[in-house]
Amino acid sequence: MCGIVGAVQKNTKAMPVLLSGLRALEYRGYDSAGVAVIENGKIECVKSVGKVAELEKKLKKRELNGAVGIAHTRWATHGVPSEANAHPHLSHNNEVAVVHNGIIENHEKLRTRLESEGYKFVSDTDTEVIAHLVHHYLNLSKQKDLFEAVEKAVHELKGAYAIAVISGSAPDRIVAARFGSPLVVGFGNEKMFVASDVSALIDETNQFTYLEDGDVAEIFADSCVIRNASGKRVDRPMITSEISAADMSLHGFQHYMQKEMYDQPQAIKSTIEQAMKKGEIDVRAFGAKALSVFRKISSIQIIACGTSYHAGLAARYWIEPLADLPCNVDVASEYRYREPRFRKGTLYVFISQSGETADTLACLNMVKRESPNSHTLAICNVPESSLTRGTDLAFLTRAGKEIGVASTKAFTTQLVAFLLLTVVLGRIRRTLPKEIDKKIMKGLLTLPEKVEEALELDSTLHRLAPKFTEKEHCLFLGRGIEYPIALEGALKLKEISYIHAEGYQAGELKHGPLALVDENMPVIAVAPNDALAGKLQSNLKEVRARNGKLFIFASPETKIVKDEGTEVILIPEVDELLAPIVAVVPLQLFAYHVAVQRGKDVDKPRNLAKSVTVE
Ligand code: AGP
Repeated sequence: MCGIVGAVQKNTKAMPVLLSGLRALEYRGYDSAGVAVIENGKIECVKSVGKVAELEKKLKKRELNGAVGIAHTRWATHGVPSEANAHPHLSHNNEVAVVHNGIIENHEKLRTRLESEGYKFVSDTDTEVIAHLVHHYLNLSKQKDLFEAVEKAVHELKGAYAIAVISGSAPDRIVAARFGSPLVVGFGNEKMFVASDVSALIDETNQFTYLEDGDVAEIFADSCVIRNASGKRVDRPMITSEISAADMSLHGFQHYMQKEMYDQPQAIKSTIEQAMKKGEIDVRAFGAKALSVFRKISSIQIIACGTSYHAGLAARYWIEPLADLPCNVDVASEYRYREPRFRKGTLYVFISQSGETADTLACLNMVKRESPNSHTLAICNVPESSLTRGTDLAFLTRAGKEIGVASTKAFTTQLVAFLLLTVVLGRIRRTLPKEIDKKIMKGLLTLPEKVEEALELDSTLHRLAPKFTEKEHCLFLGRGIEYPIALEGALKLKEISYIHAEGYQAGELKHGPLALVDENMPVIAVAPNDALAGKLQSNLKEVRARNGKLFIFASPETKIVKDEGTEVILIPEVDELLAPIVAVVPLQLFAYHVAVQRGKDVDKPRNLAKSVTVE
């Protein structure tokens, strides 16, 4: 949700760093972009609608040479994508420029006040109030102290923000601040940076410091001073990032989503391996205190959004029977407002690829506030994210950097993490039958190969895709643990191909959605050979009886037979406990091919962004 990058250098142009940072951050939003640099003590700004490439075209015609600058790629919240609404936002006489990620909830009130003081607004954004507020305080300060002006301005803001501010009156620095949206300071040699995440700066440095909520940082080319919310000078830990330029490369694939689907065997292997010690699952993979926490818990509450929520839904089908623990799963945006009751002994599990999803983080903060003795566990793909830094326990999936907006390898590794958690809990609680334990452990060993086999369906799904390119609607059905997989298949298809797709429990078909079924409504069923396959087949007959066209992703063992209205896509045979992890792969490939053949930008689907850091 909006990407910020800033550079403070001495005598070298900031623009190359700003543009490469923006390109790396484009996954966070891509409806408009802009840069501002300080040149001869004045702010110069260029903005454009559309992707970063459009901004680059403009910058070819108007070169900006400043050594200090800020840049932004936007995902619109307040106001349509337009040049006026693009960041940086400028104050009166271009004295101050601001880039912002987040949402200022009290912006209307601040706007009215600033307008009454004579400030003229040129955009519909919430961000513009920050530029005018900083300008207001800068002009009240005798020394024109930018740090102090930003500190005072952010004290007036309600909501979430990560900001970077420059001013012609302080041409050698950036002042940055965060509350609720991520911001990291990068340390280079005689150059310093700020960005929404480390991927923007990997060509420049691997040394970073994460700002905490309430921090304000004054960043010069060779130093950085951070003050916390109470104005006290603080030192934040320095970390060395493991992300490399290779993680950001397409490695010959056409799209990041395509590459990331193919990364899955290795991502799954790494996730399993890092959790093992001497051939056994090491409970400490969930955190140093995991064993003592897991011994105490009596229920589980899973909280997440989107694809991560689907992983949580699937996990319930493992955790309840095998670890004998009641398990609830909630969408974070609902959970935070439904006034839930907090029970002693509950383990709250927060799943997030990015670890920066605003609703998921808000739920974590709510649990910590309302039920301070509760245990919290993050399942996350980003080691230093706000989520992993905020929970008592954390399990890191090893999917590697996921750039495509459509989550693929993060999902399959989240499922692996949950299966490992189930085994660990089942063993500690002595509820996991020995033969099932063995089956899972054996299955995990061969899982990467099975996913590899599933990827071999690529050309089959490429050939199937044209049957869907003209469709406007599609139903996905599953039963049991395949129901969340059906939901995930539908989400993948709708988010990248813009075909309206719904996932349903197959048993619910006759309670409503069957009314939609006719020869124009394709129905996709996920049917690996599990205990409910027989029941699913009866549901599918209901579809055929209404002339519905069926596309069944089934394992050979189901022995489902093709007919003129039923197409069967054979997926690899795998133990039913691990089947969802394999079954989702062909659905990802299918969505990918349909989207590509419909001419859509699969990595940057319209209206979406990778990291949803606003509510
Ligand atoms: C997945 O394809 C989506 N783009 C989206 O649903 C995503 O899973 C959701 O926004 C949650 O993100 P997180 O895992 O980073 O918290």
